[in-house]
Formats: sequence, C-alpha cells, structure tokens
Amino acid sequence: MVCLGNICRSPLAEGILQAKLDSNKYFVASAGTSSHHKGEQPDPRSIRIAEKYNIDISQQSSDHFSINHFDAFDFIYAMDQSNYKNIIKLARNISDKQKVKLILDELNLDKNLEVPDPYYGGDQGFENVFKMLNQACENIALKLQ
Ligand code: 4NP
Repeated sequence: MVCLGNICRSPLAEGILQAKLDSNKYFVASAGTSSHHKGEQPDPRSIRIAEKYNIDISQQSSDHFSINHFDAFDFIYAMDQSNYKNIIKLARNISDKQKVKLILDELNLDKNLEVPDPYYGGDQGFENVFKMLNQACENIALKLQ
C-alpha cells in the first residue's frame, strides 16, 4: 500500500487489508514515495479512525518505497495517480510494472479514481478515506482468497 507520506492513507490501507486476511498466509505492508516522514508513527487522525473500527495501526512506522519492494511483494497498490507514476518510474521491467495498480480500480467504478489526501483537512476526510479503502480492500481480500 503506497501513498506520499505513509502516515495517513497507506497505513490505513495496510491495517484494513491485513485485518481481512489470515496473517499466516498474507503479509501486507505500506510505504511512502516520499521519505519525509520516515520512521514516524501514523498520523493521530488515522490512528483514531482505525481504532473506531477496531483496527490498531499505532505500531506502524513510516517506510520509504524502494525497488526492493518490487521483489518483496506480489501486488503494489497506489493511493493516487501521482504515487502511481512515481512507483512506475522506479520499475525495472514489465514484471515490476504489472504489479502496480491504483487501489480504487479494485472498486469497479469509473477508472482512475484517487483516494484523496486527507492531511490538510479535518476528521471527516479521514472517515471518507477509511470507507473508500474498506470497500476496495474487501474486493482485494475476496479476490485473493
Ligand atoms: P499520506 O498523506 O500521503 O496519505 O501519508 C500526507 C502526509 C504528509 C504530507 C502529505 C500527505 N506532507 O505534505 O507532509
């Protein structure tokens, strides 16, 4: 799960998808295309909205997306077009590129929809992001299992 800072959207996506999957069989992680917040805990607003739905993301720490992630993961979900493009720029070959998807393309709605960056907004933005990610992750979990 990849966003810009790895403190708002992708930590939520990681927590939500992992909660829907057997952790003995599936490993979900998240990272940011920027290293600006590397090592930081998720944003308190993301921690709070996850807690509301009984998901604990407080132990995550922000990681920087790197080419090693292409080797470590089967699927890479970008939260928006900008993250998608920045991940694709790092791809070494077609196989790397094929792993990268826009997460909301899993919702069978209009294509190319983005998870809006909630960083500069209020709590309602985080609730909205949680709901979008919850639906997308439900579809991803159904496909994987
Ligand atoms: P995220 O949100 O990409 O969902 O983690 C952001 C976090 C921090 C910043 C921007 C977006 N920032 O500009 O510091």
